Amino acid sequence: MSATPRQTAPTPAAIRAAKGGTPLVALTAYTTPTARMMDGVVDIVLVGDSVGMVLHGLPSTLGVTMEMMILHGQAVRRGLGASLMVVDMPFGSYEAGPETAFANAARLMSETGCEAVKLEGGRHMADTIRFLVARGVPVMAHVGLTPQSVHALGGYKVQGRGAAGEALIADAQAVAEAGAFAVVLEKVPAALADRVTSEVPIPTIGIGASAGCDGQVLVVDDMLGLFTEFRPKFVKRFATLGERAEAAIAAYAGEVRARTFPAEEHTFADTPPGETT
Ligand code: KIV
Repeated sequence: MSATPRQTAPTPAAIRAAKGGTPLVALTAYTTPTARMMDGVVDIVLVGDSVGMVLHGLPSTLGVTMEMMILHGQAVRRGLGASLMVVDMPFGSYEAGPETAFANAARLMSETGCEAVKLEGGRHMADTIRFLVARGVPVMAHVGLTPQSVHALGGYKVQGRGAAGEALIADAQAVAEAGAFAVVLEKVPAALADRVTSEVPIPTIGIGASAGCDGQVLVVDDMLGLFTEFRPKFVKRFATLGERAEAAIAAYAGEVRARTFPAEEHTFADTPPGETT
């Protein structure tokens, strides 16, 4: 959307209007320092429920709670002023019906200060999205591989292959018609992602989709090489910070055991420097 760092955050309407332009850049964030690093450099910062797996060691996103999303949302808000902030609605906070979804979306917005929420699901979530949007909650949708449905889907599999592609297009159309301002397309064949992008009137944000999408999103710990337990095919590591951190921790442990840390420059004299008495 912009090549130089932004000074102000784009609105959901501006993201919606960016369809077909310079690709939108999105990343997840869960903490204040990480949010500060990406503020204004990316268009959209998503406080993803991936936080459960990436920072809390959970086996899936299913155990993520509203309280976790609020805590991490508040941390990200403190580091963010020039990118749009979206917070994921956790599993169980919106599926029961539009009223429950609104109560929880309103809580996420008022307690974190985010500008929009994201929820997973296609046609079956259209009424809920319409209900939220009509009440002032901008919604980013998420179709294709929806990790909160991992058990129903039988694993983290590619979605929409073959005849299933038409259903996925119908899902993306339904969330767009319901008023979502953008839709995440996760782990779908590239040709299908291109078709959705050309047929659906809102920006498609790909993750494991296609470079032809209107934007891309990655989990920040994945792309920095900090989360190394497994690596989906769609993740490119732009850095290997995990390896560097492990090396630094090993070096520290070695120096403590060898009594070479702390060195003189890390310690304090009884008399402050410059004073002779
Ligand atoms: O939770 C998350 O991080 C996400 C992105 C992968 C899109 O939903």
